[in-house]
Amino acid sequence: MRIGFFDSGIGGLSVLYEALRQLPHEDYLYYADDANVPYGNKSKEEIRCCVFEAVDFLAKKDIKALVVACNTATSVAIQDIRQKYGFPIIGMEPAVKPAVKSVDGKRVLVFATPLTLRESKFIGLLSQVDIHNAVDYLPLQELVTFAEAYQFDRVVIVSYLKERLMDYDLNCYGAVVLGCTHFPFFKDHIREIFPEGTVIVDGNKGTVQNLKNMLASMGRIHEGHGQVTYYRSSKRVMEDYMMERYLKLLRQIEKTI
Ligand code: DGL
Repeated sequence: MRIGFFDSGIGGLSVLYEALRQLPHEDYLYYADDANVPYGNKSKEEIRCCVFEAVDFLAKKDIKALVVACNTATSVAIQDIRQKYGFPIIGMEPAVKPAVKSVDGKRVLVFATPLTLRESKFIGLLSQVDIHNAVDYLPLQELVTFAEAYQFDRVVIVSYLKERLMDYDLNCYGAVVLGCTHFPFFKDHIREIFPEGTVIVDGNKGTVQNLKNMLASMGRIHEGHGQVTYYRSSKRVMEDYMMERYLKLLRQIEKTI
C-alpha cells in the first residue's frame, strides 16, 4: 500500500523530497490541491472542506498512512481528520522547538501563512516553548503565490523579502523557522538576506522521522519501489511537462540542503 501526501499545492514536495530520501522503498501518492490553493488566507471552514475532500479522495486509494504536508491544513483540520479516518496521520508543525534550542541568547523568527500564525495550535506551541519571549513571527503569504507561479527569480524574491523585513533588525536573529512547506524553495533567498550563521530550520526531517517511526512500529516499512503518482486535486498528472516540473522542484530542494 502507498503513503498519501497532501498539500494545498507544490509545498508538500519539499517534505516528499525528504521522504524519498529517508524512505526510498515506499510508493507515494502526492495530492496537490491546485483547485483551491492557496489555503493561507482562506477561512478555517473553507480549508476544512478542502481538506476533507482531498483526504476522502486519498482514502479511497487505500493508503496505509497520510502525511498532511501543510502547516495550514494541519493547524485547522488534523484533529477532525484523525477522528474520521482509520489510517495513521502525520501532520506538520513549525519547528520552533529545535530553533529555540539552537539560538543561544539570540531571537527566533518564524515565517508561515497568516492562518497558521493565528491558530491556537501555534499560540499553544509558543506558550510551551517560548519561555524567554524570544520568538517573533511574520506572515509571508506571497511566497506561496510566488512558488505556485514558479517565480523563484532572485531579484524578485530578495526584494520582496527585504521589503517585508524592513522593520526588523536581522542581526538579532539566530534562527529562522520555515513554518510553511512552500518556503524551503526560498531557502537560498532567505540565506542571502540574513547574516552568516543564521540557522534556517524547517520541520521536514522531523515529520518524515515521525512517519518512519510510525511505519516501523506497524511493521510496514519498505513495501514499494519509490514510485510517486501525482494528482492535481482529483486529476491524475499524466502530462510530461508537469512531471518534469515536479522533478525539477524536487531537485531544487536537494540543492538548498
Ligand atoms: N504549504 C502550506 C503550509 O505549509 C500552505 C500554503 C498555502 O496554501 O497558503 O502552510
